[in-house]
Amino acid sequence: MLERKVETWLATVRGGKIKPCEKVINRKMENFNLVMRSILFIGVNIIVISRTSAEEMENLILPNNLKIGAAGSAYQVEGAWNVSGKGVSNWDWWTHHCPECILDHQNGDIACDSYHKYKEDVALMKNIGIQYYRFSVSWARILPTGFLNNVSEAGLQYYRNLIDELLYNGIEPIITLHHFDHPQILEFMGGWTNELMIKWYVDYARIIFQELGPKVKIFTTVNEPQSVCEGYNGTVFSPGETIPDYVGYYLCIHNVLKAHATTYHMYDDEFRPYQHGRIGLNNICDGFYPDTPNDTAYAERAFQFTCGLVAHPIYIGDYPSIVKERVALVSKALGYPESRLPTFSPDWISYIKGTADFFALNHYSSQIVTPDTDEARGIYNTDLGVTFSYRESWPTGYLCYVKVVPEGFRMVLQKIKTYYNNPEIIVTEIGFPDRGELNDYSRIKYHRSYMQEMIKAIKYDGCRVSRYMVWSLMDNFQLDAGYVAKFGLVKVNFDSPNRERTPKLSAYWFQKVIQTGILQDIPTYMQTEPEAESRECLDR
Ligand SMILES: *[C@@H]1O[C@H](CO)[C@@H](O)[C@H](O)[C@H]1NC(C)=O
Ligand SMILES: *[C@@H]1O[C@H](CO)[C@@H](O)[C@H](O)[C@H]1NC(C)=O
Ligand SMILES: *[C@@H]1O[C@H](CO)[C@@H](O)[C@H](O)[C@H]1NC(C)=O
Ligand SMILES: *[C@@H]1O[C@H](CO)[C@@H](O)[C@H](O)[C@H]1NC(C)=O
Repeated sequence: MLERKVETWLATVRGGKIKPCEKVINRKMENFNLVMRSILFIGVNIIVISRTSAEEMENLILPNNLKIGAAGSAYQVEGAWNVSGKGVSNWDWWTHHCPECILDHQNGDIACDSYHKYKEDVALMKNIGIQYYRFSVSWARILPTGFLNNVSEAGLQYYRNLIDELLYNGIEPIITLHHFDHPQILEFMGGWTNELMIKWYVDYARIIFQELGPKVKIFTTVNEPQSVCEGYNGTVFSPGETIPDYVGYYLCIHNVLKAHATTYHMYDDEFRPYQHGRIGLNNICDGFYPDTPNDTAYAERAFQFTCGLVAHPIYIGDYPSIVKERVALVSKALGYPESRLPTFSPDWISYIKGTADFFALNHYSSQIVTPDTDEARGIYNTDLGVTFSYRESWPTGYLCYVKVVPEGFRMVLQKIKTYYNNPEIIVTEIGFPDRGELNDYSRIKYHRSYMQEMIKAIKYDGCRVSRYMVWSLMDNFQLDAGYVAKFGLVKVNFDSPNRERTPKLSAYWFQKVIQTGILQDIPTYMQTEPEAESRECLDR
């Protein structure tokens, strides 16, 4: 059924065709466990040495203090959208009012049902050996009306229970306050394009620090402001408002940064002295490569327009100058009397600067940057003035925007070190989308190669990466991609009311990695599986 929907969708969008996907090969699963068992039995080093040089082998050893976790988010896993007096969130509203905006026309009403099955989730994590879990709080579950007149005790209790269950099992909780969802009532009033959102957000954050802060020591404020704000530039993300020329996008970024900084200072003033937690913001930073060495400045520009747009105000102060220059220039060309990028007052610049205790990095992939040739003829198509593409040789995930470019990960880690004064980096999301195969060797290959590049960045470049968090613990509602593309270490049966969970091969792989501290070798048969080289992907 779903298969056919995807096929139809693919056919309309790009004239493509899709093959039947899931092929669970039990024999291979057994083989894999056997290999793993013999690796443990014989001793890991012997096996590894036989396949890799001594230097490469060193790059397979995880630093002692590096911890491995997994992530999810409220709307994407919880379900229970109308339970215990929860208010309607912007994502409830969006998926219910525009099902055709979602690849498979599905929604997060039930998702993984983690609201009811959180104990099972924690047991799975414990089994894999995951050291901490990053989840988000549903704002609309805590403040059903959007305001402080009604703080939901049932909502708070759910998160208290989850936190207690995690701690009891030795797993550290990490909370993201806003991971794409907020009460729809606030969206009716403009959401992040309304400056009042800053106050509403801080009111909500204070409740969370008060109620959950005593047991949670790491918070992030907003997940991927760039993705949140895309919701005001088109129909991929909620609220799906197409406000032309990025006017809504920049306004949203501006307000998110102010909300983040105000929350950081509020925590400093009211909670830090006795809660002793740490706060960051989840920034999404892709790798950018120039098409030719001549285009290096353009790749740099792409980095500043995406990662830098959020990191520069926090680490250096104000927006990057290239962004200010370009948006002013193109605004003028479009007939705007002033730049569409709002201006921070000097007070705001210094208030925002320094508001991160660590760099929370979301990273998946890299792109090729080429200058937009129209500009030579005075035509400004975008503020960025570049076009993006992918190198032919890069293997692809099932979502086209995830190409496997491990060296791009190291490049981004180096840039963060260089530009932002070598902050501690917590990788809060990194992952690979496939069709949901249980024998997900492509996911293992992705993580093995990316983690290897991370180890090099730590060892040779001096980057201070302290944690690596896989997106995602479980297959979940993947926003605009619905339930079609899967990132999980654990499969969830979305066709069953019980939403049974089944660990994939990658879960076993991570289990061994965490147990041994060594990036385990990949059995040969996995490297030759033809499906792994599939070029088929969903272009969103
Ligand atoms: C809060 O909202 C819930 C659900 O809408 C409702 O049942 C409850 O009566 C409200 N409580 C207060 C104090 O308004
Ligand atoms: C909650 O939503 C589910 C669909 O996910 C629906 O079946 C159920 O009737 C709703 N319950 C209430 C109380 O509205
Ligand atoms: C913003 O919208 C334009 C026009 O639909 C689109 O080309 C562009 O990719 C969007 N930008 C982002 C960051 O989504
Ligand atoms: C790079 O720029 C130089 C100087 O402008 C030019 O001569 C050369 O052809 C360019 N190379 C490429 C690959 O575009």
